[in-house]
Amino acid sequence: MPKLLTLADINYAKKVVYLRVDYNVVEDGKVIDEFRIQQSIPTIRKLLAADCKIILASHNGRPTNGPSQALSLRPVAQVLANLIDKPVGFVDDCVGPEVELEVGKLKPGELLLLENLRFHKAEEKNNANFAKSMANLAEVYVDDAFANVHRAHASMVGLPKFLPHCAGLLMQQEYERLSSLLGVPARPFVAIIGGVKISSKIGVLQSLLKKANTIFIAGAMANTFIQALGYEIGKSSTEQDCIQTAKDIIKSAKQNKVNLILPTDFVVATSARQGVKHRLVRLDKIEKNDIALDIGKQTMKAIWPVLESAKTIFWNGTLGMAELPDFAWASRDLAHMIALRKNKADTIIGGGDTAAFIHKLAMQGRFDFVSTGGGASLELLAGEKLPGIEALMSK
Ligand code: 3PG
Repeated sequence: MPKLLTLADINYAKKVVYLRVDYNVVEDGKVIDEFRIQQSIPTIRKLLAADCKIILASHNGRPTNGPSQALSLRPVAQVLANLIDKPVGFVDDCVGPEVELEVGKLKPGELLLLENLRFHKAEEKNNANFAKSMANLAEVYVDDAFANVHRAHASMVGLPKFLPHCAGLLMQQEYERLSSLLGVPARPFVAIIGGVKISSKIGVLQSLLKKANTIFIAGAMANTFIQALGYEIGKSSTEQDCIQTAKDIIKSAKQNKVNLILPTDFVVATSARQGVKHRLVRLDKIEKNDIALDIGKQTMKAIWPVLESAKTIFWNGTLGMAELPDFAWASRDLAHMIALRKNKADTIIGGGDTAAFIHKLAMQGRFDFVSTGGGASLELLAGEKLPGIEALMSK
């Protein structure tokens, strides 16, 4: 049975290690969230303790025209250096003579961050020569870029073919914690799925319908379900082509005896902006010009006993338009409800917007596990085969 290769499976001590991380955290030349950098530190420390020379490599953003200052990884070097209290070198490319020279100068226990891998088109094309040039820099390959495992790019799937390879500590933890939800999670298992689009979460919902006791659907995606049930949803965001999917999910929940909870009240306004006049209405009182922007108190009250008795809680997707403080109430309330529960449960927060929201509240320490992966964690939970994980499996 293939298993995820880990640091226990390879000999990395005193070697030049190519550590693939996901530092996709720079926007307009600034680090906007340190979470993914922080989460890569346990592996870095383990490799440093083993006197490795560490080459750090990541993509950032989606560059279309080659290198740009706005998407350079240079600012990450200083942030990482501050976090680990150790200098981190930086080189302006990720392959080529200058990079080889800088890697050649590394001493045991030193780190060098390479420039954004996506500045080379060959990365996204999974070009084998590009992968080989990267592999030539190192002796072993360790992958901690969990958030990028759904991308079959050169540094994720091509490179490990040329070197002894394994998952880093973060990759291993993400894989084990999220896969555990697809195994035999402690029950009752409650899943809260918010966010905007049903279309991006169909796979996860189908998977959860086989595993969860309760699924609470919120965020703008709940609007399509509400519409599928025949209610007026006003000018709220919906996906017309997903109405049948919503009906199918409601039907499957009944068949599988899953308690599917939909919002029964909403905070509505006539435009989606901070400061706009808004009101709390019951589901059957939404008017033609209303836009549902958050979930109401009655719904949140109904969720509390379900959360209290849960043994496993998984939350992905904010409940309202949480980027506007006026409509972040229900998401904040949910974060506090999960954190304040008295009974012991395994609490797992999906990455992406949900993790970013939790960080804004400075509450990451209140949950058992906060994933770094957005799309990656959703695809894993949908039971899909992920190229970046497959590349790290034993044969
Ligand atoms: C992410 O942030 O989800 C990963 O880094 C992947 O980035 P991408 O969606 O630009 O491929």
